[in-house]
Order: sequence, then structure tokens, then C-alpha cells
Amino acid sequence: MSNLVHESQHPLVKHKLTKLRDKNTTPKKFRELIREISILLAYEATRDMALEPTEVETPLTKTTGAILKEQIGLVPVLRAGLGMVEGVWEMMPGSEVWHIGLFRDESTLNPVQYYNKLPTAPTVQVCLVLDPMLATGGSAAATIDILKKWGAPRIKYLGIIAAPEGIEALHTAHPDVPIHIATIDDHLNETGYIVPGLGDAGDRQFGTA
Ligand code: PRP
Ligand code: URA
Repeated sequence: MSNLVHESQHPLVKHKLTKLRDKNTTPKKFRELIREISILLAYEATRDMALEPTEVETPLTKTTGAILKEQIGLVPVLRAGLGMVEGVWEMMPGSEVWHIGLFRDESTLNPVQYYNKLPTAPTVQVCLVLDPMLATGGSAAATIDILKKWGAPRIKYLGIIAAPEGIEALHTAHPDVPIHIATIDDHLNETGYIVPGLGDAGDRQFGTA
């Protein structure tokens, strides 16, 4: 596997992922788990963020600390990526959030864009694309195409469950983009669902199944 593909080995991620997959998990609990796993993934995915020194005054003395140097953009892919925003944003409250709307055409499995309000020039240095499911990889690759055309200097993909087919497709389309994923599952089925997976991540979050 490429060293740009990072599959989490964290026990907390594995524990929460098991609850997330459970078909009896309610939408409320499902949303909580998506939020919590996203925080853990963001922690792992931001290890290499640039810092700049800053002076801070404690009650005892002055010392040199560090703050994030680059402006970060969180890019949730509607709808299912929405659930990943809140937790990651809490960790990086100074981030901008730019939504991209895509859905998969059910017959072709190709992504169809329906929302993009990016301004003409990029306003961030690092984009974190948030989407829990990487199935064929079409939606993730299309989102990253949009961000590259926008001029985003650095992009990372954060997802929860991937099919090997999706990892391969995304890495082939965008070999420079690190992929941070909670787990890589077995395969895609004939209707484009990840197996064992968790079903439809949008429907399970929003109670629309
Ligand atoms: C899901 C998911 C991804 C996409 C992944 O969205 O959130 O965006 O499918 O599939 P792909 O890798 O084959 O492109 P969906 O199209 O179901 O839309 P929704 O989030 O609005 O339900
Ligand atoms: N989108 C989902 O929500 N689930 C899958 O298994 C594949 C695509």
C-alpha cells in the first residue's frame, strides 16, 4: 500500500466503528459515532500541520508556544460528509467550511455535482475533504478535481470506510493526496455498496432510509 494511504490502527476507532456498522444503531447514536471517529481521524491526519512560534504569558512567566500556521478549509461532501464537520471543526475552530454537493447516479454510480459556492480564488492553504464513504472513489476524485481547479495548494482526504476499489481509484486519480481512512473493507458489491460496510451513510445519519 502507498505510504499516502493511512488506515487507522487505533483501538478507539475500531471500537466505535463496530458500533457504527451495527444495523441496530439509531440515527442519533450513528451521528455521535461519526462525530467521534472524525475527531480521532483528524488527530491522526493533522500530525504534519505547519506551526509558527508565538509568545504566551502564563500566570508565572512568558514562554514560547506554537499555533497553526496555515489556514485550513474543511470540505464536507453533502450529504454524508456533514456529520464529520462538527467534531473536526471543534478541534480546529479557526477553519473555514466549504460545502460541495454531489450525489451518485444510482444506475451509472457516477457523481453528479449539485452544489459548489467556492469563491474564485482559494482562501485556504490546506483542504480536508470529509466524506465517510469511499466506494468507487468517483465522488472523492470529483471533489478533489474541483478543489485543484480552485487552486487549493494542499489536500487531504478523510473518510471512515473505504472499498479497496475506491482507494485504488482515488490514489490513481490523485496520487499526491494522502488518504486517511478508519478502515479498508473487503469489496464493493454489484450495486456499488461497500461490504461489510454500514449501508447508506447519508440515510443512516439523517433517518431517511
Ligand atoms: C455517498 C457517500 C459518498 C459517495 C461514495 O454519497 O457519502 O459521497 O456515496 O460513493 P463513490 O465513492 O462511489 O462515489 P451519496 O451519493 O449516497 O449521497 P448522500 O450522501 O447525499 O446520501
Ligand atoms: N455510499 C454509502 O453511503 N454507502 C456505501 O456503501 C457506498 C456508497
